[in-house]
Amino acid sequence: MAKSKSLVLSNNSFAESLFSIGTRFSLAKVFDDFLTMTIAACSINPLTKLSNYEEEYLQTIAPYKESELRHEFPKAFAHLIRQMEERVTDSQGNDILGEFFEQHLSNGRNGQFFTPFHICELIASVILGENESKTDTPIRILDPTCGSGRMLLAARKSNATAEYYGIDIDHTCVKMAALNLFLNGMWNSEVLCADSLRANDFVISYHISLLPFGIFKITDKEKSKLWHMHQKSFEPPEKKKSGELIELDKTPFKDRIDIKGTQLDLF
Ligand SMILES: C[S@@+](CC[C@H](N)C(=O)[O-])C[C@H]1O[C@@H](n2cnc3c(N)ncnc32)[C@H](O)[C@@H]1O
Repeated sequence: MAKSKSLVLSNNSFAESLFSIGTRFSLAKVFDDFLTMTIAACSINPLTKLSNYEEEYLQTIAPYKESELRHEFPKAFAHLIRQMEERVTDSQGNDILGEFFEQHLSNGRNGQFFTPFHICELIASVILGENESKTDTPIRILDPTCGSGRMLLAARKSNATAEYYGIDIDHTCVKMAALNLFLNGMWNSEVLCADSLRANDFVISYHISLLPFGIFKITDKEKSKLWHMHQKSFEPPEKKKSGELIELDKTPFKDRIDIKGTQLDLF
């Protein structure tokens, strides 16, 4: 049987596939659209066999549908999986998405330099080395400015049983982190798009789940576990009863974090 043209991997890497689409379309948009469509592809409803985000997928692919270059998107995904797999035990980690974003798109704008993976590993082993959970409650690890989620990927190597959470103000970073956690099998994790300096801020959140399998968008902040935990970490230790005057809590923020897991543990 002749091979379908769309299945031939003409370009040799994730970056080359995206660059080839970038010859006709803006590279930043191509990258963000790739993330949106890949997240949609990672969230299939087993009953309908369609994505839970089918409409968004169709809207995102629409500008490319007249161009043969649209076939590069699934090839880019195939290359991404292969390259991540090849580097799963690599000392430089397998954050292919973050490397592409940093090298070709952000160029350090908005402080978007990501920590080299071996430094992430060092930080994670220093912080987590002696902090195995001694209770039934898993340690919860938050990177409140997570970028592509690289610090969380490194932390997983020190503690495979923890729950992982990331927040970033930039939606493209949030999508990268959600995909990175999903493709590395870091279930029960969540990545929130919000300003982490503000207790109530919420744009959207992504839940990474094994059962049901997929990346699930949370659009109602009340349904976001991470939003509730993050908001709680801003509260004074003891809430005043209603009617009493609320005094400003003078405890430094870092001292309000309970490392044993009732609140979020911080990098
Ligand atoms: C220097 S990068 C660090 C990323 C990651 N923690 C690492 O070590 O590789 C900082 C990230 O913080 C995000 N950021 C900046 N201000 C923020 C805010 N107020 N709330 C949430 N994220 C923010 C940026 O979008 C950027 O992705």
